[in-house]
Amino acid sequence: MLLHNKKLQYTVRVDEPNPAFAKMCLEQFGGKDGELAAAMRYFTQGWAESDVPRRDMLLDIATEELSHLEMIGQIIIGLLKGSKGALIDEVEGGYLGDFIEGKQEQYQQLAWNSSQAILGGSGPRLTDSMGVPWTAAYVDTIGHPLADLRSDIAAESRAKIVYERLIKYCPDTSAKDALTFLMTREVAHQKMFEAALAAIENNFPPGNLAPDERFTHTYFEESSDGATTSAGFDLVNSQGLWQFELSDPHAGGEEPDLPDVKPSVASADEPLDVDEALRATSRVTAGQISGEEPAAPASSASGSKSKAKSRKKH
Ligand SMILES: [Fe+2]
Repeated sequence: MLLHNKKLQYTVRVDEPNPAFAKMCLEQFGGKDGELAAAMRYFTQGWAESDVPRRDMLLDIATEELSHLEMIGQIIIGLLKGSKGALIDEVEGGYLGDFIEGKQEQYQQLAWNSSQAILGGSGPRLTDSMGVPWTAAYVDTIGHPLADLRSDIAAESRAKIVYERLIKYCPDTSAKDALTFLMTREVAHQKMFEAALAAIENNFPPGNLAPDERFTHTYFEESSDGATTSAGFDLVNSQGLWQFELSDPHAGGEEPDLPDVKPSVASADEPLDVDEALRATSRVTAGQISGEEPAAPASSASGSKSKAKSRKKH
């Protein structure tokens, strides 16, 4: 169950309207690394999680992400509204009136190119900053904590970076304060997911099947130029925890057995048998393909008959 608390998690203030920056903030509203995607990722993981502490943490964070969706939504609304002294804005609700009257010329080009202003009015729509609609494809839950927690850590890292970039471009001191709070919570969530992953015994590799031991600790030197060591191998082996062994490139499989495929375009020597091709690839009969008219449906309406007559005249 979710409860509605009328307060925001953190105070959102905006100094002045800025539709251009509002459009950028949509990235964290309906974008792939945004707050809705984060909430849906952790809800879908938490609902299916049988480990009570982990389930609790996932659902707490998912709920918090919805609070962040609310906050970034309020930032966007604040950036769209608030044009001083614009009567039409009071009626229309937003900055739309001002730039229709030519008072915010600097934003006109952006606004006319943005469905945010036209279709969303003064409220945010579930799109990213380029207007691409939010999609469940952003949610990469796979239903295994060892894979999902790693993905969660990466998702929080990406969200932190996006907030960082928004803060860099943010000209609004008050909005920057709220964005900094949101960025900070991404750091906190990342540490929570890291702790949850570390709390799982034998947390590597993900999944249940044991890997083939012949290949688990081998580093294939695919970029070899004849040298006996490579910088890449030195890098991955520097911690000494996994004990990789350097190996020549591995080509241990047989060459693929190529199927005997007929050419897709008929040659002059062997013209394409259309009937055979149709039988092999389609349920459509050759008769239908060759352009016969579909059978007219039986009709008792006199209007239909007159329409049919008028068609024949043409
Ligand atoms: Fe987060």
